[in-house]
This record gives sequence, C-alpha cells and structure tokens, in this order.
Amino acid sequence: MTTAPQLEIRDLVKTFGGVQALRGINLQFAQGELVGLIGPNGSGKTTLLNIIGGYYAATGGEILLDGMRCNGRSPVELARIGIGRSFQVTKVFKRLSVLENMLVGALALPGSSRREAEERAMAVLGSLQLMRLAHQPASGLSGGQAKLLEFGRIMMLHPKIVLLDEPFGGVHPDLKRFMYDRIREWNAGGVTIILVSHDMGSIFGLCQRVVALSYGDVIADGLPEAVKADPAVLEAYLGDHHAA
Ligand SMILES: Nc1ncnc2c1ncn2[C@@H]1O[C@H](COP(=O)(O)OP(=O)(O)O)[C@@H](O)[C@H]1O
Ligand SMILES: [Mg+2]
Repeated sequence: MTTAPQLEIRDLVKTFGGVQALRGINLQFAQGELVGLIGPNGSGKTTLLNIIGGYYAATGGEILLDGMRCNGRSPVELARIGIGRSFQVTKVFKRLSVLENMLVGALALPGSSRREAEERAMAVLGSLQLMRLAHQPASGLSGGQAKLLEFGRIMMLHPKIVLLDEPFGGVHPDLKRFMYDRIREWNAGGVTIILVSHDMGSIFGLCQRVVALSYGDVIADGLPEAVKADPAVLEAYLGDHHAA
C-alpha cells in the first residue's frame, strides 16, 4: 500500500524581479518524516519555507496539503490547518511576557478559551524549562531561550507540519542537544518536520532524509549518507564558505 503524500510541492517557481529563487521544485513529504533541507547560501531554502508557510506568494506551481491546494492562504490560515513555522531571525514580542508570547497565536485558533490556552502554555513552557520565566518580559530572554520560546509558540498551534529555519544558529551546544530532543519528541508524536540548517552535524544527526537545493533546484534527495556523497552536492558547496 502506498500512502498519499501529506505535503506535495508541484513545479514551484518563485522569482524576485530578475532573480529566479526557485526554478520549478517538485517534492513530496509523507506524514511523520523528519527531512533536512540543505544548500549553499542563496539556494532558495528560506524562500521555499516562506511559500509553504504562506509568507510569500508563489510565482508558479502549487502546494497541496493532504491533497488540498493551499497556496494563496495567509500564514494564519495555514497555521490553523497545521503548518507551523520558525524564523531564521527569531521573532519574539519583547514587551509581552513569555506567557503572553505563547498565547498570541494560540488565541487566534478556534475553540480555545484563554484559561485552557494558559494551562497548555504553562505545560509547554515546563517541557521547555521556561516555566519560571513565564511572567517575565520576553526582552529578558537569552538568544537561546528566545529560540525555545519560538518552539513553544509553534507547539501551541498543534501543527501537523513544522518548518524550522536555522534553529541552531548561535545556540550553545547544551541547548542544541536540548532542542534536538524536543525535535525528536515532536517527530515521534507524528509531526512532519522540515529542518533547514547549515549545521551539518545537526542535519545528519537528526534527519532520515535530506533534500539539497542549489540555485533554486533540487539537486539531491534521499538518504543522508547518499546525499552527502553526491557529486552534485559536493560541487554546489565548493566555494560556499558557510558549509565548513
Ligand atoms: N524578499 C526577497 N527579495 C528579493 N530577493 C530575494 C528575497 N528573498 C530571497 N531572495 C533571493 O532569492 C534567492 C534565494 O534566497 P533564500 O531563499 O533566502 O536562500 P537561502 O535561504 O537558501 O540562503 C537569493 O538570490 C536571494 O537573494
Ligand atoms: Mg535562509
């Protein structure tokens, strides 16, 4: 029995003025996959996540979630139907408390009372070791804690698919291991994860499948070891100084 893909990307094109950021991407993701998305700087990784998350409109092609076309929807609508997203540059509301930050997205979901949302937020903060900071302003968080808060905000939305853009940038190794465990836990619960990272140790330590982009095209897609050894991937990274 073959299972239908949960997320399907068909002939996706994105141009910015004269720049072709994505040149007709085709990808399928099954529910519960943990996929690494790699590629040199400027290869289109963030653009791809931005389109899947509804932050950019595609120039061409389509995105299907559970067989339903979902491009053109707003990030809020997509969050409601199960797509959660982190950002390369962490977005935290600095003047709100940590708990209030957790509630911002969750209260936009249908059917959740503030009390229920707060209870859930406190439980999630507990799992992220942020409970004691719940009533502190988010401006006081360290960079690493802010990244955890961003994870927490995604968890509040009960996503089916989580898109993580460079979650480990500048993160202390101990915290990185803590984040790995959270990502594995999410994934073990059936959540599909697409992870963009320059940190090859993280990609190869976490992912069962790796997709490589170069100049807006998929140049390799498969088992981590095979992608790592793929000549097209090695060539794409030659001269890319972030890939060391
Ligand atoms: N908002 C934008 N406006 C114009 N060009 C953009 C924009 N976002 C990305 N690009 C261009 O699209 C290409 C892919 O960028 P990006 O998706 O950020 O790559 P990556 O995340 O792999 O480093 C680059 O050439 C980049 O300059
Ligand atoms: Mg990027």
